[in-house]
Amino acid sequence: MDSAAWDARYAGADLVSSVGPNAFVAEVVGPMTPGRALDIAAGEGRNALWLAEQGWDATSADFSPVAVERAQGIAAERLGAGAGPFRAVVADALSPAPAPTAGGGYDLVLFAYLQLPDADWRVALRHGVAAALPGGSVLVVCHAERNLTEGVGGPQDAAVLHDPEAVVAAAADLAVEVVSAELRERPVEGAGRPALDSVVLFRRLES
Ligand SMILES: C[S@@+](CC[C@H](N)C(=O)[O-])C[C@H]1O[C@@H](n2cnc3c(N)ncnc32)[C@H](O)[C@@H]1O
Repeated sequence: MDSAAWDARYAGADLVSSVGPNAFVAEVVGPMTPGRALDIAAGEGRNALWLAEQGWDATSADFSPVAVERAQGIAAERLGAGAGPFRAVVADALSPAPAPTAGGGYDLVLFAYLQLPDADWRVALRHGVAAALPGGSVLVVCHAERNLTEGVGGPQDAAVLHDPEAVVAAAADLAVEVVSAELRERPVEGAGRPALDSVVLFRRLES
């Protein structure tokens, strides 16, 4: 889907994603010390908003202007004085990532459910890793390919689904080490079985 298609999807619904963060994002990032975070393909910003609420300096980036506007609106209503700085920007994951306002890099780069075919996904991952500081984290959460046959819901196009092994393979030439790579079950209300997600955490190395 291109940005216009995503714009139409966001414009046609009150809220496309949940209000709170993805459970795996909260689980993995929760114990981390807040710093500067970039959420790539952040949509309406559910994860980036939660990061700001945890004290992170959060940048929510998406190529859909409608999604970015919505994230800005939610932030204005929801984020109180105790939250970290938050900004939502229009940015294509296939281009170099937006730099932090203060320059330098990010302590955390997040990809949550960015659905791209393998070649594009590798480009996005390369830009995401480049945006992370040495020692910083790059967290990928995505629909697994195995979800097609063993899970439920999600995109039905295998080309945009990535098992944990494929996420790790996509980073083979990048300056990262694998901290963890898991296939995780995500409960889906009303479904007879859980959805299957890939949850992969990388640590950025000195390049
Ligand atoms: C399934 S939504 C996930 C949104 C958010 N990360 C979340 O977990 O709620 C996928 C998002 O990817 C965005 N997206 C797709 N291709 C992109 C690209 N090349 N650059 C930036 N955003 C992109 C879409 O606009 C959409 O907001």
